[in-house]
Amino acid sequence: MDKLDNIILIGFMGSGKTSFGKWIAKNHGRNFYDTDELIESSQLRSISDIFAENGEEYFRELETDTVRRMLDDKVSGGVISVGGGLPLRAENRRLLKRLGTVVYLKADVAELVKRLEKDNTRPLLAGGSLEEKINRLISERSEFYEEAADLEVDTSAGADTVAEVSGASASDSKAAAAEMKERSFRSMYEKIMSETGREPKRRF
Ligand code: S3P
Repeated sequence: MDKLDNIILIGFMGSGKTSFGKWIAKNHGRNFYDTDELIESSQLRSISDIFAENGEEYFRELETDTVRRMLDDKVSGGVISVGGGLPLRAENRRLLKRLGTVVYLKADVAELVKRLEKDNTRPLLAGGSLEEKINRLISERSEFYEEAADLEVDTSAGADTVAEVSGASASDSKAAAAEMKERSFRSMYEKIMSETGREPKRRF
């Protein structure tokens, strides 16, 4: 099956699809797309409002329409961050495989809780215990993410550099955090390139 030339990032809310996608776009000359943003701008309202006013099923239809439209438009040379629930539909998984190389960003629950605890933009996480919700949703979704993916990347890749970087820059934790993120993203990108055979494996 012919794929278009896109890198598609799937995974749970908070797994880093948007920030890693923007990093790839900036550093590797790709156009950045985000299905949530495309939906919000075509609907002129937020995801939370769409869920509240029309319900989740309606939002899922909009997701399928968005991916179909990108295929019809033969979008190429992009990096596409995809809403966390989009790969749950079998039809969407098939469409994504044609749209590009599908990369599943995996993150552990403790890390997701940390990243999502102050978020109030994701209706599926509102109210109740965040950790329980994340655990439940991930156990329901993992098989679909795995089925949709051409390859999986652990978002803690490059974490071996954490101690080194934070030790070296204890006086400037912001710079250390940025450096850690940069190293981690480089290592994740290198893995994608080497597994897809697009570029020779390089050391950064
Ligand atoms: C959702 C994930 C969100 C957004 C919506 C539903 C989900 O996107 O599409 O709130 O079902 O996991 P992100 O994964 O970009 O947060």
